[in-house]
Amino acid sequence: MPSSVPDWETILHLAITLARQAGAELRRRFGRQVIITLKSELDPVTDADQAVETLIRQGIQARFPTHAIQGEEQGETRAEGPLRWIVDPLDGTVNYAHSFPHFAVSIGVADTQAVQVGVVYDPMRDELFTARRGQSAWLNGVRLAVSGTTALQRALLATGFPYDRRRNDDNNHREFVALNLASQGVRRPGSAALDLAYVASGRLDGYWEQRLGPWDVAAGALLVECAGGTLSTYDGTPFDGLGHQVVASNGHLHAAILAQLASVRRTACTPSPDHTTP
Ligand code: IPD
Ligand code: CA
Ligand code: CA
Repeated sequence: MPSSVPDWETILHLAITLARQAGAELRRRFGRQVIITLKSELDPVTDADQAVETLIRQGIQARFPTHAIQGEEQGETRAEGPLRWIVDPLDGTVNYAHSFPHFAVSIGVADTQAVQVGVVYDPMRDELFTARRGQSAWLNGVRLAVSGTTALQRALLATGFPYDRRRNDDNNHREFVALNLASQGVRRPGSAALDLAYVASGRLDGYWEQRLGPWDVAAGALLVECAGGTLSTYDGTPFDGLGHQVVASNGHLHAAILAQLASVRRTACTPSPDHTTP
């Protein structure tokens, strides 16, 4: 293989190894975590977020020193190469800070075109979700497929609320009410990466959220795509793999979810400027 062609199997293998190591560290620290700072009034960072991001960064740099790394807590490390690792060391920090055992490590690897490899690891359930563009998505080695639910009133959905919800009226409360009435139920599990992984595995029929970071969605969106799901922004524009605003579904329900969002948003607040660009 020419050296300019990335060896995606090796990259996927390293992403899995690092996600498992990071998950083991999160499990070890679980219940003893300390909030070290607040990024905003509702957005905590624990000692575990920082320690685990350092662990993942060191693992990438030791094996692939020319790869760029974009991590939620420690920012962007540029490199000459075209490949970029997009890392959320702990997705679900509010849960983790309260010893609520639902959180994940999320690692995506992109070239200049798109995210090519995605890994989401839930250390408390030992569930490893993996995806490789052009191939498939798997949970602990078993191939994934989205659900077959066709009626919104039979659908189980998930969403999340932005950290600035006290200050910004565009805070998903109206959307939540509308979809909670239209579906069988809406969950707010607290980890965007796992919400997407659950759509990929058919445990959820759909998910929507906005004001996300690329580290929240890079791996999970690829899981949904590789499991046969549909992804877009709220207005139906195809999702670019890293955007701030996402609707993910099994495909059958996509139009119905978009219609509910549109009906509420038409009559409600003016969207704030920081999420108008997907
Ligand atoms: C958060 C979680 C949450 C979502 C927030 C994210 P963090 O990530 O994914 O479910 O609602 O928008 O920021 O801060 O726990 O890494
Ligand atoms: Ca996150
Ligand atoms: Ca995080």
